[in-house]
Amino acid sequence: METLQVIADARRLAQTFPNLPEPEARPAAVIVSGLPGTGKSFFCRQLAARLPFVILESDAIRKKLFANPTYSAAESAYLFRAIHCLMENFLQKGIPVILDATNLNRKHRERLYSIVDRNHAKVIIVQMKTPAEVVQKRLKDRVNGNGNGDNSTADWSVYKKMRPTVEKIDRRHFTVDTSKDVTPSIMKIVKEASR
Ligand SMILES: Nc1ncnc2c1ncn2[C@@H]1O[C@H](COP(=O)(O)OP(=O)(O)OP(=O)(O)O)[C@@H](O)[C@H]1O
Ligand SMILES: [Mg+2]
Repeated sequence: METLQVIADARRLAQTFPNLPEPEARPAAVIVSGLPGTGKSFFCRQLAARLPFVILESDAIRKKLFANPTYSAAESAYLFRAIHCLMENFLQKGIPVILDATNLNRKHRERLYSIVDRNHAKVIIVQMKTPAEVVQKRLKDRVNGNGNGDNSTADWSVYKKMRPTVEKIDRRHFTVDTSKDVTPSIMKIVKEASR
């Protein structure tokens, strides 16, 4: 059972998402995984342009919860408790969601699967695998202020620090290389979500 604080925060956060998609009997829950700069947020926006979803972008939600984020372990732990609660609330109502976060840790993903499963939603896992040299260039551009409207501040040093923490995805999943055209992957996921 979550604390009243987390429940209240999740309720407050839910109100910051206007134009919610229509509820469905079995909504899709897209779980995106990938290192910083691999193109998760870009991909999520493209997907949501094709099919209505609420995008739960961890970096955007972090800013809503913490005016001056520190990215500490405690802050991230609280953030994800709120995200889990929010995700559960949307799925309970039948609203399709995309979780845009690195989701590199197997145990963390297990928590997500149980939320999806107990709400009878359809899990779709998407792993971003983009060549490191492409990511490095993109992150350099982002730091130089060319990453328009980006919520993330992760740079190449964060990428390198996180790279050894990647844990293999055991479940069936889609793999996307965002250095190539992402449209075919978007179409496959749209098809899977609409089934
Ligand atoms: N398919 C793509 N084609 C061209 N540019 C892209 C593509 N995907 C991402 N980019 C660019 O690369 C940069 C990083 O992408 P994005 O912000 O989507 O990564 P991310 O995985 O969400 O990173 P973070 O974990 O830090 O949030 C952005 O400036 C974005 O515009
Ligand atoms: Mg992002």
